[in-house]
Amino acid sequence: MPGQQPVGSEELRERIRKARRVFVLTGAGVSAESGVPTFRGGGRTAVWKGLPFEVISSAGMVERDLPAVWEWFDYRRGVLEKCRPNPAHTALTAWQERFESLTLVTQNIDGLHAAAGSRGVLELHGNIWRARCTRCGARADVRELNDRERPPGCHECGDPMRPDVVLFGEMLPADVYREAAAAASVCDLCFVVGTSAVVYPAAELPVIASRRAYVVEINPEPTPLSELCHEVIHGRAGEVIPAL
Ligand code: OAD
Repeated sequence: MPGQQPVGSEELRERIRKARRVFVLTGAGVSAESGVPTFRGGGRTAVWKGLPFEVISSAGMVERDLPAVWEWFDYRRGVLEKCRPNPAHTALTAWQERFESLTLVTQNIDGLHAAAGSRGVLELHGNIWRARCTRCGARADVRELNDRERPPGCHECGDPMRPDVVLFGEMLPADVYREAAAAASVCDLCFVVGTSAVVYPAAELPVIASRRAYVVEINPEPTPLSELCHEVIHGRAGEVIPAL
């Protein structure tokens, strides 16, 4: 695709030239070309020791069997360890220099936007490389914790820590969502990349943006948001974003 026909419409190229505040929402599809399975494309069907994904990754499981939750997330981290940022992540990092303001919001917990060098990424569903104390809320980098201690003890209060990710049955971090919604409401150009847009409230963000911004979807497949978007580019993030 790059180097061949221009990607997107003439109107989009003009809007990119003029854009001041850009808002980008990413989902699992942006990491697909890094080898991370998308959620609805297979990841969700994973079973861990006989427990379906939705059970082992749930708030109830943290209450019932926190060591098992750690074991499962240790396994997932082991898979992600081999995954590197792809050209979509890298291009989005470069966009931070290109536009006056760029807000990058992700539903992904893989940390690949930050690994590519993006700063200030708003992680709506947390980060698999981070742990959080179940009592005092102190956070730590999992890689700096004792990996034989499951659950690890909090460095502040000694209580058990848990993965700092949003599990089934849990709310999004309110401050992160508020910041994302505020940025969506004032942007003039919005990109929705690699998300099936069926999980709320993340899928609400492009709707908020659409009240004043030009909204562009980048996804090989249509989604429930496609109708609302001003432009839909059917393609892979790792090809389309660098080409833009
Ligand atoms: P999904 O797995 O639901 O959707 C992935 C989307 O990426 C699909 O629409 C694919 O068509 C698209 N896709 C696949 N390959 C792509 C590529 N190379 N380039 C661009 N797009 C591509 O993942 P999410 O929408 O991120 O939440 O799922 C949202 C949330 O659902 C997850 O964060 C998770 C789950 O509930 C929590 O666990 C809290």
